[in-house]
Amino acid sequence: MSEVKQKFDGYAAKYDEWFMKNENLFISELRLFQKVLGDISGKKLLSVGCGSGLFESYIDCSNVEGIEPSEDMGNIAVKRGVNVIKFGLIEDVDLPDNEYDVIYFNGSSSYIEDLVPVYGKCLKALKAGGRLILLDVPKESAFGFMYLLGKSLNTYDHEYLAGAMPELPYPLALASSGVWHTTEEKINVLKDLGISKFNFYQTLVKNPIYTNEEPEEAILMRNPKRLPKVTRAAVMLPSSQKNKDLP
Ligand SMILES: C[S@@+](CC[C@H](N)C(=O)[O-])C[C@H]1O[C@@H](n2cnc3c(N)ncnc32)[C@H](O)[C@@H]1O
Repeated sequence: MSEVKQKFDGYAAKYDEWFMKNENLFISELRLFQKVLGDISGKKLLSVGCGSGLFESYIDCSNVEGIEPSEDMGNIAVKRGVNVIKFGLIEDVDLPDNEYDVIYFNGSSSYIEDLVPVYGKCLKALKAGGRLILLDVPKESAFGFMYLLGKSLNTYDHEYLAGAMPELPYPLALASSGVWHTTEEKINVLKDLGISKFNFYQTLVKNPIYTNEEPEEAILMRNPKRLPKVTRAAVMLPSSQKNKDLP
């Protein structure tokens, strides 16, 4: 187990509580998560940065393995049925080749500085036809701007943000410790790793102050060249070159 304090240590309860208080936002994200996963029966999955296993607790996670550096978060995931194979950083884990049908990062890319070795490792660990799924707050989204402004001001309680903030914003410490990548940045990382097929989905298309008003449906972006620009949680659904079953 890690001796180093991880970014999410001490925030496990707050993290789950934030989603529970922002219930409609959570439902929107959950719909997106379920939609991009699709039918997982008989498939082997790896959740990188599985956190507390909150999203996994709404799917059959009997075939979901997890990697999680924060013991606070990971211990809850274990109780929720995720098979946490490593309490540590993905950077420090050796994954077997051709092992998983699906590897996903639900929000965890936003806490990883150098995505190249990490995505490279995961692509090798996918079986033929496997899928790599990335769900994130894009840096270019309204949420991305809000988090970076909050970080630079060291507070959300500032005249620049007055009247524009959601009632219950994501904890500032977690917003501030994020490494908010743009969608294009991640696409370029994957292109450099030899990936050329992508699918894009988005949700939370409203601005943050209105996001929790009602749940939203996940939208498939028909034109992959039109990158999501205003969405909060865009999803890239890159597939390995081995992929035969693009959704
Ligand atoms: C925004 S939370 C998402 C948690 C969970 N996937 C969910 O959707 O509720 C990001 C998670 O990524 C984990 N994380 C951060 N850096 C990581 C790394 N280098 N390797 C693996 N996980 C990491 C954090 O500890 C945290 O639990």
